[in-house]
Amino acid sequence: MRVGILTSGGDCPGLNAAIRAATRRLISKYDFEVVGIKNGISGLVYGQTEPLSLYSVSGILPKGGTILGTSRYNPFENADDLEKIRSTLQKYELDALVIIGDVDAINVAHRLAEHGVKSVCIPTTIDNDIVETDMTPGFDTAVNIATEAIDRLHSTADSHHRIMVVEVMGRDTGWIATMAGLAGGADCILIPEVPFSIDEVSELLSKRHKRRKFSIVVVAEGAKPKGHDEPITKAKRRDAFGHQVLGGIGEYIAGELEKRTGMETRVAVLGHIQRGGTPTPYDRVLAARFGVRAADLLAEKRFGLMTALKGTHITEVPVEKVVGRVKAVDPELYEISSVFFG
Ligand code: F6P
Repeated sequence: MRVGILTSGGDCPGLNAAIRAATRRLISKYDFEVVGIKNGISGLVYGQTEPLSLYSVSGILPKGGTILGTSRYNPFENADDLEKIRSTLQKYELDALVIIGDVDAINVAHRLAEHGVKSVCIPTTIDNDIVETDMTPGFDTAVNIATEAIDRLHSTADSHHRIMVVEVMGRDTGWIATMAGLAGGADCILIPEVPFSIDEVSELLSKRHKRRKFSIVVVAEGAKPKGHDEPITKAKRRDAFGHQVLGGIGEYIAGELEKRTGMETRVAVLGHIQRGGTPTPYDRVLAARFGVRAADLLAEKRFGLMTALKGTHITEVPVEKVVGRVKAVDPELYEISSVFFG
């Protein structure tokens, strides 16, 4: 068999670990040929490839990002993209694909399967918002980075007696905010799953300030005030899949809190720092386990599946169970994080 591997959607730490694992397994155990498709789905459309060998994946395990490049590219936006994908598959004699990426990548894999393109998916995202898997590579690293930032912000908030608002990523879910906020001892965590009232947040902090003269508020980029259907954003742009480009809620909250509490307030937007750099051991191991399982599924000709973590076990699920769904934060986890508010 000849297998193409690509990474699609927002990058995250652990992509290279997944590429390496799938490539090593496909070559060493099954003697397959492996072709890297550059720049995600866009490379599949435009036929950008490079051969992958045991040599080319050597040394990439601790590297952040993806050696193949990635993009947010929707091939169902352009009428002739499907034909172009077919000719890339034919030209490079690719029997099947390993599609590594976020929920949009999995949606694309699902739609391509309806047109006869065979694939196995590996879910990866810092957001941890993909259903049917307990965790995705990238998430643990992002939580570590955000937790370290919160730890650091404590000392400056304390020294200046300020409110520090920390805006983290997560799209329409608050996984990073909840986990990093809980780990970092946040005094308030705002997530998309639980719309907030700015009056209630300022009351909470004003009460706290009688006891402690600083506060840390962690806000997920997709958090919404009660009564708002759309998140508050700085940019009014949408990406290739129609998602609103998020970011800006932190600044809004900081301004409102300063007005209401009279306390000096600053905002730190962690942004893409959360997606950069070397993956944690946890993410490397999870990506390696997913990569090996994906290779085994291909060798067994079991297509249309996504690798998944259930408890401590690696398994697989049909991609149709994943598409169109979002994994919201476990209410029990958020409830525990709120024990420490105020
Ligand atoms: O899906 C990962 C993610 O980092 C989200 O948390 C964030 O909203 C989005 O990607 C940012 O995307 P981009 O890098 O395309 O601006």
